[in-house]
Amino acid sequence: MEIKKVGVVGCGLMGSGIAQTAAVAGYETVVREITADLLDKGLSSIEKSLAKLVEKGTMSGEDRQAALRRLSGTVRLEDLGDCDIVIEAVSENIEVKNQTFRELDVACKPETIFASNTSSLSITQLMAATHRPERFLGLHFFNPVPLMKLVEVVRTIVTDRDVYETALQFGLSVGKTPVRARDTGGFIVNRLLIPYLLDAIRAFEEGIGSIADVDTAMKLGCGYPMGPFTLNDFIGLDTTYYIATIMFDEFKEKRFAPPPLLKRLVLAGHYGKKTGKGFYDWSDPKNPKPAL
Ligand code: CAA
Repeated sequence: MEIKKVGVVGCGLMGSGIAQTAAVAGYETVVREITADLLDKGLSSIEKSLAKLVEKGTMSGEDRQAALRRLSGTVRLEDLGDCDIVIEAVSENIEVKNQTFRELDVACKPETIFASNTSSLSITQLMAATHRPERFLGLHFFNPVPLMKLVEVVRTIVTDRDVYETALQFGLSVGKTPVRARDTGGFIVNRLLIPYLLDAIRAFEEGIGSIADVDTAMKLGCGYPMGPFTLNDFIGLDTTYYIATIMFDEFKEKRFAPPPLLKRLVLAGHYGKKTGKGFYDWSDPKNPKPAL
């Protein structure tokens, strides 16, 4: 199976990163958003991201132009009909994703491989909305997609072996290192990362250390690029809370249960960097100050 044309559904944070990555890797790429406004916003974030890479000297101006030529945007799902693979990155909501896949199933040729970028929902549950279960899998990229080297390639019990191998090759071809994962809550990374992020909050609730000290300890003690509170603020506390809730529902284990403080921050609308406040106050994004 050869992949020539890539479709991406959703041009938000993850979708724009995936579309950018595919176009940079040489694929003809078409990305779909539901409104022209959202599409413009997504496409301009890709242009900015590429410009930043050129500025940093990690990409030439010509490569940037070539990537932009390979990329197109649409508001019509039908324009993804002849794609060889379609990667879904719409909001993390089972109803919205299933509706998207039902429509894609009609719009796309029978050979098109469907992939979801979900970080927490069951690939099997999404697959069941289509008539092509054997051509369905998970491709879980990490934020920020253009910089993060990993993609989890997630198979269900019915994913076709050749389709799975094609997806692993696709991951490599877009410059990522693919890892093989089975369809269980959180796959590999979030299965380990979410309990760690929640434990950091519990440690803070118990007074073990301040937000700044826990972050410094994990950064310097373990060589992590950022501490758990900073990472939580980057991911979005609403997202961590949502993933934890789904994982707790799947495993019924305490380590996945969202701590009370996380729930209260989410209820207060303090989602982290994107809302300006979470565990840190991001009024000055280059110099965040602990907010609790
Ligand atoms: N989310 C969003 N943006 C991030 C980010 C993250 N997790 N981490 C870093 N960035 C942004 C930075 O804010 C910075 O943006 P600006 O240029 O606009 O200031 C840009 O990426 C570059 O960051 P650095 O200055 O740190 O550059 P670097 O080249 O030294 O390192 C990096 C880049 C490799 C991404 C490093 O910052 C890093 O490792 N960050 C942690 C990323 C991480 O852990 N991601 C996983 C999130 S978990 C997830 O995605 C799974 C899920 O399902 C929830």
